[in-house]
Formats: sequence, structure tokens, C-alpha cells
Amino acid sequence: MVNEDKIGSNIRKKELVDKYSPENYEPLTVILTKGKGIYVWDVAGKKYIDCLSGYSAINQGHMHPKIVKVVKKQLGKIAHTSRAFYNDKLGEFLEILHWVTGYPKIIPMNSGAEAVETAIKAVRKYAHVVKGIATPEIIVAENNFHGRTTTISSFSSDRAAYHGFGPFDGGFVKVPFNDSMAVYDVINENTAAILIEPVQGEAGVIIPYNSYLQELHAIAKRKDVLFVVDEIQTGLGRTGTMFAYQHSLLFWNKPDILILGKALSGGFYPISATCMHKDVAEVFGPGTTGSTFGGSPMASVIGKAALEVIVEEKLPENSAKMGRYLLDKLIVGLMTDENIILNLVEDIRGIGLLIAIEFYHNIAHDVCHRLAKAGVLVKDTHNKIIRLAPPLVITEKQTNELASRVVKTIKSLV
Ligand SMILES: Cc1ncc(COP(=O)(O)O)c(C=O)c1O
Repeated sequence: MVNEDKIGSNIRKKELVDKYSPENYEPLTVILTKGKGIYVWDVAGKKYIDCLSGYSAINQGHMHPKIVKVVKKQLGKIAHTSRAFYNDKLGEFLEILHWVTGYPKIIPMNSGAEAVETAIKAVRKYAHVVKGIATPEIIVAENNFHGRTTTISSFSSDRAAYHGFGPFDGGFVKVPFNDSMAVYDVINENTAAILIEPVQGEAGVIIPYNSYLQELHAIAKRKDVLFVVDEIQTGLGRTGTMFAYQHSLLFWNKPDILILGKALSGGFYPISATCMHKDVAEVFGPGTTGSTFGGSPMASVIGKAALEVIVEEKLPENSAKMGRYLLDKLIVGLMTDENIILNLVEDIRGIGLLIAIEFYHNIAHDVCHRLAKAGVLVKDTHNKIIRLAPPLVITEKQTNELASRVVKTIKSLV
């Protein structure tokens, strides 16, 4: 009887969400209640390896004790002040963010989309004020994903993301990803910036050829336009370096604007940042940009601790090592089977702990359900692709456990 009550109350937890939330998500029927490290537990007590990491926001692992400690300590003091006043925590957060990124000026925001919007504002104002461009244009890539605000949706190639949400403001020019000459060809006197993801995560882990970013950087310098890199998903260790642009850009080159989010929070509180050079930052005066919560004392202690964990625990290095290990295990486990290569799996690719398995057919959602049964949580993207992005604290033993569950589940499909 007690158990039936419990099951009933768990079903109600899902039903309440379905009742009051529009269907803007299509969640797996798993009701999570607890997380620790790479693991999460559902309300029935079943344990899963979390291979989504809250869409790459939990690089540090769930409930990292160092971040929990600073949250608890800060709760006894003050959570929010606004930027109308100084607070005693923001400075130290900005200092470590400067130390990790190398940028002299940083605007703290909340969601990733807000940080992208801040970058767009910086680019446009710089074009107007410094370069005298009346109608600035920003070059973006096809199949990009930079967030879900109306401005950002306006330059999406994903019909679900933009259809019906117009009218949109213009000022964006779309070119194919992974083609630097396509960028070169559309640059004109109105071009203000190139905005790019170093690896297209949402599009299905699309990894460009090695010198792509370096070529874009060179084109941007030569044509005197700003080079803006969105590392909201790829940054802070996810791809095996602190920032994914470091795989490609020569080490003395950096984007003019670097956009961070997700793992800057360790999953505790939405924290993002737009990092820029001094001359770009100078376009912002009082009242030109900001947000109620960005840079609050709570966000600042969380952001600082989240960065310290990434640096102290060498998470980029672990991501590179475990990413390579996992990729090898998946390729050996799946791509040596003729039946799988011919009928099921089209490609397995990855960079650090951002790995995609692409199927020939639209079975990714079904694979996610099967993996959940096997104790692995992943999410599909574009019907044919699943992304594996576990927390970067994963050990070799856990990686073995993950690889064997994924291989076994996918093998059972043929
Ligand atoms: C590259 C990139 N930019 C921006 C965003 C938007 O971030 P948020 O959902 O926090 O607004 C995402 C989210 O997945 C992303 O992957």
C-alpha cells in the first residue's frame, strides 16, 4: 500500500509537469531526484550514468563538494545585490575568469543566450561607434545553435527554432559551416563580425577541419572585422582543452570576443559571461547593457568555485584522455562489426568528452529510451544522432562501464 502511494505520487510529479508546461520539451520518462559525480538517481532509486550533464553544464560532476560548500557558506550571508552596488564577491570571480580566459573585460550574465546577445550588442555598437557602419552585418554558420531569443532564432537554420517567431531583425548572413572561403566571399563593407561555434554541438558534434578557425581568424584580421567564438557548450574543458578554439588557433591568437556559459555554473545557477578586449568593451557605458542577477554574490562564489574545480582537477586533461579512451572503445566495440557498419551506425566522432554516434535512420530517440533502461542517460539530436557528454570527472573504470553499456545496447538493435 505504501509503495503504491509512492508510485502514485511519483506519477503525479510527471503529470503536474505535463499539465502545466507546454510541450516545448520532449523529456524521457525518467524523474530524477538526486545526483552525485557522474551519476543521477530517479525517484524509484534507479542509478544512471548521466551522459548529458545538463546539456554540458555539469562538467564538474553533480553536486561537486567544493561548490556545495561555497553555496552553503554564501547562503548564510547574502545571495543577491544587483549591480547597482558593488558586492564583495564579484571582483574575485572576474579575476579568476580573466586569469583562465586572458580577457581584460568581462560582462557577467545568466543564460548562454543572454551572453550571445551581449556579444551581438558589443559587435553592433563597435561597428556603429568605432567603424561608422550604419547597418552592421554578422556572418554566422548554417546549422548554428546560439540560443533561443528572438534575435538568435532569426538566424537559425532549424525550422522548429524560427518558424512562426518573426518578424525578425536582419543583420545576419548565413554561410556553410566548415568553409572559410564562404566567409571570405560574403565579407563586405558592412560586415562587423564573424560569430561561430568552434564545434557545432547541437547540430550533432560537427568538428571542422583543423585549420578552419585559424583561417577565420586570419580573414577577420585581414578584413578588420571582429572574430566572436561561442564556447558556451565547448568551453571549460569539454573538448579536451580549456577552450575548443585552442585546438586550432595559433597560441598567440585569440577571438576578439569569447562567450561562456553552462559549466561556468557547475550546474548550480545560470551563469554566463561575455569576455572581450578593452577596445570593444569601451563601447559600453552606464545603462547600455546588464542584467538583474548577473554578477550577484551567489553567482560569483559559484562561478569562482566552478572555475577552480576545472583548473585544480585538470578537467580539460581528463576530458582529452577519457574522451579518446571512450571514442576508441565505441569504435572498436561497434565499428568492427560489418552488420553495424552497413545497417546501423553511420559514424562515431568526438573531441574530448563530446562524442556523437550517428545512425543511418531516425532511431536516436528509441536508442535513448533503450539506453535509459540500461542505466545511461543521453539525448538525441536531429533524430539520427545521440550525443555522449558525461561530466569531465569520469574515471577510467566508469568510462569502461559506460562504453560497455552503450556498445551492448546498440548491438542489441541488429
Ligand atoms: C553553443 C551554444 N550557444 C548558446 C547556447 C544557449 O545557452 P542557454 O540555453 O543557456 O541560453 C547553447 C545551449 O545549448 C549552446 O550550445
